[in-house]
Amino acid sequence: MKKRFHALMAFLLALSAGTYTLDATADLNVDVLRCEYVAEPLGIDIVKPRLSWQITSEKRGEKQTAYQIQVASSAAKLATGKANLWDSGKVLSDDSLNVVYGGVDLASRGECFWQVRVWGANETASSWSTASHWTMGLLDKQDWQASWISYKDDTPVFTDTTSLFLPAARQYRKEFSAHGKTIQRAVVHSTALGIYELNLNGQRVNEGAFIPGWSDYNQSVYYNTYDVTDLMQGGGNALSAWVADGWYSGYIGFGLLTGMGTEKIGRYTYGKTPSVMVQLEIDYEDGSRQVIHTDKSWKVTGDGPIREADLLMGEFYDARMETPGWTEPGFNDASWESAILAVENGSTMATFYEGQNPDKAGNAPKITGREVDLAFKQPRLESFPGVPVVVSEELKCIEVVPREAGKYIFNLGQNFAGTIRLNIKGEAGHRVTMRYGEMLHPDGTLMTENLRKARAQDTYICKGDPAGEVFVPRFTFHGFQYVEIVNFPGEPTKDTVTGLVLHSDTKLTSTFTCSDPMVNRLFQNIVWTQRSNFLDLPTDCPQRDERMGWTGDAQVYVGTAIYNADVAAFYTKWLRELMAAQRPSGAFTDFAPFPFQHGWNFGTAWGDAGVICPWTIWQAYDDVRIIETCWEPMTRFMKWRKDTSRDNLGIAHGNDWGDWLAQGGKTPLEFVDTIYFAISSKKMGEMAAAIGRDGEAAAYGEQFENIKTAFNAKYVEADGSVNVSTQTAQVLALFADLIPEDTRKATGKKLADMIAENGNRMSTGFLGTRPLLPVLSSVGQHDLAVLLLQSHDFPSWGYEVDQGATTIWERWDSYTKEDGFGRHNAAMNSFSHYSFGAVCEWMF
Ligand code: BGC
Repeated sequence: MKKRFHALMAFLLALSAGTYTLDATADLNVDVLRCEYVAEPLGIDIVKPRLSWQITSEKRGEKQTAYQIQVASSAAKLATGKANLWDSGKVLSDDSLNVVYGGVDLASRGECFWQVRVWGANETASSWSTASHWTMGLLDKQDWQASWISYKDDTPVFTDTTSLFLPAARQYRKEFSAHGKTIQRAVVHSTALGIYELNLNGQRVNEGAFIPGWSDYNQSVYYNTYDVTDLMQGGGNALSAWVADGWYSGYIGFGLLTGMGTEKIGRYTYGKTPSVMVQLEIDYEDGSRQVIHTDKSWKVTGDGPIREADLLMGEFYDARMETPGWTEPGFNDASWESAILAVENGSTMATFYEGQNPDKAGNAPKITGREVDLAFKQPRLESFPGVPVVVSEELKCIEVVPREAGKYIFNLGQNFAGTIRLNIKGEAGHRVTMRYGEMLHPDGTLMTENLRKARAQDTYICKGDPAGEVFVPRFTFHGFQYVEIVNFPGEPTKDTVTGLVLHSDTKLTSTFTCSDPMVNRLFQNIVWTQRSNFLDLPTDCPQRDERMGWTGDAQVYVGTAIYNADVAAFYTKWLRELMAAQRPSGAFTDFAPFPFQHGWNFGTAWGDAGVICPWTIWQAYDDVRIIETCWEPMTRFMKWRKDTSRDNLGIAHGNDWGDWLAQGGKTPLEFVDTIYFAISSKKMGEMAAAIGRDGEAAAYGEQFENIKTAFNAKYVEADGSVNVSTQTAQVLALFADLIPEDTRKATGKKLADMIAENGNRMSTGFLGTRPLLPVLSSVGQHDLAVLLLQSHDFPSWGYEVDQGATTIWERWDSYTKEDGFGRHNAAMNSFSHYSFGAVCEWMF
């Protein structure tokens, strides 16, 4: 569709050439048109979408002084200047980011073709940009004719915490005849409770992995819209889908490890049985529409080749059970079952366990159970606002190491998140298993202790194809550098395994080189760790049984993320999950989505991500709408924060992670809470001003000043030092702007002295390290900041690089050449944790 549209535009533009070329400056170009941060999004549900573009010019000092946007309901209309949806006229403005559509109301399924031109410094206009387009999704519930369908699930609720329950992925299909007329446009809207792959006539429709992503399915689920005009056939057609558990009913987080969630088994978090909903709309040129949608006439089987499919546990593929031709018309599905409506699986009661905030008496948080129904519940449908998870790179194996007979370890040369492509030739029934690890033990065996309850194992059974077979798992991913294959038939080569790097399609935007090779490697490690953990949501790590949207990590790193990649749409999606996770009290949670409560439902500096992340996205992308959409939850959070404070100071409450993984003494939680109460108040004031809420801006500003006064009275000495004797305390006070302007240098000197006394080593953790170098540079200690960056002494970035790191580790010494993995608890030792990579913001 896209290709045809562009060809048509080129032709029509050629016809109309001359309209604007007379006054156009040839060296001023408008390009990179975006709607809601995405190039040509389909099926959006934002009725006032925002449009952005970039200008380029050969001329130094060129700038945009005005713009004009035209939007039409067809490519032909736009090309002939009939902007029937919106013509902004010439607007005197240098805005090129998030200009709000101001035309006629947009309806379900509407097509919008648009172009923009700008005026430069010398008042001459550019040519019109190449046209772009977006389409509207299904804006009303009534637009959906499709039903959620499922398979008859008779399995009892699994309750064994010592073994795994891993059901087969299901295959769904439906054949239909297209009317024998010319098709104008065919569009499919689809979603699943679970994760799915959709095909039309043997071709994949929804490129990307793990669609529709993780949301709180008890509230809402995302749908996507795809243009399938080119995949339609005259006569017989077939729609089909693979559907697996995903986050909906598969293993997630540390539920199994900690005994949280449904029956403490770590799965069925949102429901028991995955389901799928598809609506294909074929618009014919004569104006008629044919709709094919999921209902009881679809067929389903669980007897196909994907015997197990789980994000944490891995995939089991038995190629002997393949059903060739099932995605195409003409396949005989007589032996398949009929699909049922998802509601027909009825109710299944279970006990859901999670943490509770301590009672007023101050008893420790405890885990309690409550009754839940695992039945299908109709979630709200929202158009997917993010970017899909894609394979961005294929890594070559750099070494194959034979172990015992048939056992080999493949080294992919880089720690990353994703899957593999396995090339194999074996007899029918030959079975190989693959295990994944980030590191090797000194004796060359695979190190998997840090995966905890994530089994991270794939199995493949050959069908015996003499030409060889290829296996690429669909519904799992691992965090790894090494793959161990057991029972490999024959002699493998480096081409036997390649690594498929998976992450959300956040295009990289940064480069960094300097004269220090260690720092250059550090930069690469940071970018790799960002890629590995930007997988549908910003996760803490991609390998062990967590992979959760930890909010503390996210707020520490977001400032770096925005430099390294185009993360606007990615955070737009995740911020919905963060806002949706807000507790009735107003507290923002420790992770989002929030499948279960672990300990308290809040952690100081973790929950504050609910203010810090929107603020950062606004700053980076001039996105005032993110402030507006988060405003109500953010103010509820701030009210709760104020209500829990005492005399304008924070208190010790919530999960006590504080300056998590600090090397030195502990910075008291109530101190950290005061800092983040101040940071969030200040940012709220700035955001209020940005959206014209002047009264609230003043109130938050005053709240910040009150905190500052109380903080100085309690914590700041006459010489400017902070009387909590940790590096973190000094740096956080400076970072939060709580030190009076004329004392900042003195406080900075105190911080520098403490670092010197510590042998020029940091002792800061997650919270203290992130601002350490920026703060040092801002208080006249830039040389010390540079020294810390380039240090090779423990703890430092250089130390980690010297130990062979290709990513950022959870701990500086997660592995050392001297002590191996011995310095830490193997279970809490991830080799892909981005928090300490937050120094990158300062590097830029
Ligand atoms: C995660 C962290 C997270 C923390 C809370 C860990 O298990 O991996 O990165 O922020 O828990 O302290």
